[in-house]
Amino acid sequence: MTKRLKTLYSLVNKGGVFADVGCDHGYVAKYALDSEDFESVIISDISKLSLEKAEKLLKPYKNKVKSYVCDGLDGYEIEPDVVFIAGMGGEEICSILQKSKFRVKQLVLSPQKNSNKVRKLLIDLGYKIDSDFTFFDKKFYDAISATIGKDNYTQKELIFGRDNLKLRSAEFLDKLNMEAKILNSVISNENVSSLDKNEAEQKLALINGVLYEN
Ligand SMILES: C[S@@+](CC[C@H](N)C(=O)[O-])C[C@H]1O[C@@H](n2cnc3c(N)ncnc32)[C@H](O)[C@@H]1O
Repeated sequence: MTKRLKTLYSLVNKGGVFADVGCDHGYVAKYALDSEDFESVIISDISKLSLEKAEKLLKPYKNKVKSYVCDGLDGYEIEPDVVFIAGMGGEEICSILQKSKFRVKQLVLSPQKNSNKVRKLLIDLGYKIDSDFTFFDKKFYDAISATIGKDNYTQKELIFGRDNLKLRSAEFLDKLNMEAKILNSVISNENVSSLDKNEAEQKLALINGVLYEN
């Protein structure tokens, strides 16, 4: 397992049924069974070819695995305790959660973009966000873990992630500095339209507000 998947899996509450949605290779589901953290796992993917890779990897655990080719949790016959979704865009994750017939005990999510939309939806769906931070493993990733409950986020927390604002980790600040550099190069580029420059300036102001606050 990569550092990325290990970091995300460390947020998982162990026990019951673990679901790896968009499992592709199935590494996380295998790790969950190898560690004896769960009684059984569900692997699912919208791509039959991807699911077949995971089924092959999990063959030794055949009796403990259910597998579905489906969009999100659409084809699930039993309710998992934990749903793990990584490596998809935030809008795709939102669409999966909105369509889900289950309100599972825990969600561990890593949106590749639009994390703000995922945070907002979690709160609207009646989830409390327990962990919400950025980490680095060759690239920057967001990790969001949520359990059933009430929560309240400010606009700034929705954009940046609550733990990031509280903890100001080196990894989070590195990400902001990298984004600020990109936005500065957009702003100083003569070939960029004034509309795009305006948008870049607004984003930069938000980022600088976090970087240079006391
Ligand atoms: C980049 S891979 C990520 C694999 C693994 N979760 C990880 O983080 O390493 C994304 C996987 O999600 C699957 N996928 C995309 N949209 C999906 C959806 N709506 N429902 C289920 N699987 C989906 C893709 O087929 C692909 O196997």
